[in-house]
Amino acid sequence: AMDSGVAKTMILDWEAYELELQERIGIDQRLMLRVVTRAKKNPKRVVFAEADNIKILKAVQVLKDEKVAIPILLGNKEKIDFLIQENNLDMTGVPIVDPYLDEEKLKHFGDILFEKRKRKGLTPQECHRLMKDRNYYGAMMVELGEADALISGLTKDYPKTILPALQVIGVKEGTDRVAGMYIMNTSKGPFFFSDTTVNVNPTADQLVEIIGLTANGVKFFDIEPRIAVLSYSNFGSAKGDVASKTAKATLMAKAKFPELVIEGEMQANVALNEEIQIGNYPFSDLIGKKANTLIFPDLSSGNIAYKLLSELGNAEAIGPILLGMNKPVHILQLGSSIREIINMVAVAVVDAQTQELK
Ligand code: ACO
Repeated sequence: AMDSGVAKTMILDWEAYELELQERIGIDQRLMLRVVTRAKKNPKRVVFAEADNIKILKAVQVLKDEKVAIPILLGNKEKIDFLIQENNLDMTGVPIVDPYLDEEKLKHFGDILFEKRKRKGLTPQECHRLMKDRNYYGAMMVELGEADALISGLTKDYPKTILPALQVIGVKEGTDRVAGMYIMNTSKGPFFFSDTTVNVNPTADQLVEIIGLTANGVKFFDIEPRIAVLSYSNFGSAKGDVASKTAKATLMAKAKFPELVIEGEMQANVALNEEIQIGNYPFSDLIGKKANTLIFPDLSSGNIAYKLLSELGNAEAIGPILLGMNKPVHILQLGSSIREIINMVAVAVVDAQTQELK
């Protein structure tokens, strides 16, 4: 096979990439390097719902060459073949799945969707029509074990991409919630932000669930979560719905997860500044155990915070990592860079490895 020049120009020398990050923004945690190394030990089949996109194909080239994942391209075969040729990519051995070319399978998938959704307002006709949507098709491939993980979302709104996955694959047993976590890799180390992508206005109970999901998500990266529940108030200093909701969620989460370090409700600067806590809140469980995991009271605050930090701050954002799905599905931020796509796939592969052990 031809030696792919694309990969070369795209920095997949992970060691060099991490060193560059370290120099540029002082990041010393080789977090993604660890994930990629783990992924390469046992690469998994990842289906790309948007394989007719050149950024996806370029990321796939790297992932294939570096053996981080075993890619499956989903989409219009003609269009994908054309893009591969036009851009001089080498996709030898990479399967292309074109739903339109296999009527029988499309029908089979539609039948299964109908079985799942017949009491949720869908007719057989609608199910067969929905299956032509690659987010449904890709989710069904993962559901039926034809792929180990799904990557989508580069070109479509988040809600439109996540709904098919929720309907076809659904949430893990023991939860009824999913949430999106971002790793903000900064010069002060990695920080985990959640929920940044799914739950618009969670109740206190739902925040407790988000805390549980997020704690597991942080542990996935071999890091011990130290959780701050954020608000505009510090331990009852201000009134309002968010203040009382986050205070309540903190107490419930402390009771539900006694093994975890959880503190709140608190303002973001207090969460990240031990001196303020020592001076004013000497009872804080985060003293001596600096917070690395920030739980936001709602989607606006979480989503705005991570986007501001990634645009204005010296941080690399990795995610959103979708927590709580029954099988690995990860939905890219609209317009993600090739590097972001590669990072997410590495996470998806390790996610799939972990699921296999269960
Ligand atoms: N966790 C788990 N399952 C859920 C959740 C959730 N948070 N929300 C809905 N579901 C399930 C429902 O239980 C339902 O399952 P069922 O049909 O099997 O009973 C299914 O999903 C559909 O439920 P609906 O009520 O029809 O879905 P809803 O209209 O609530 O939409 C969605 C869910 C798409 C997640 C919605 O909450 C949403 O749009 N969230 C915001 C997403 C967003 O715009 N994020 C910001 C941008 S992302 C970024 O910046 C990268």
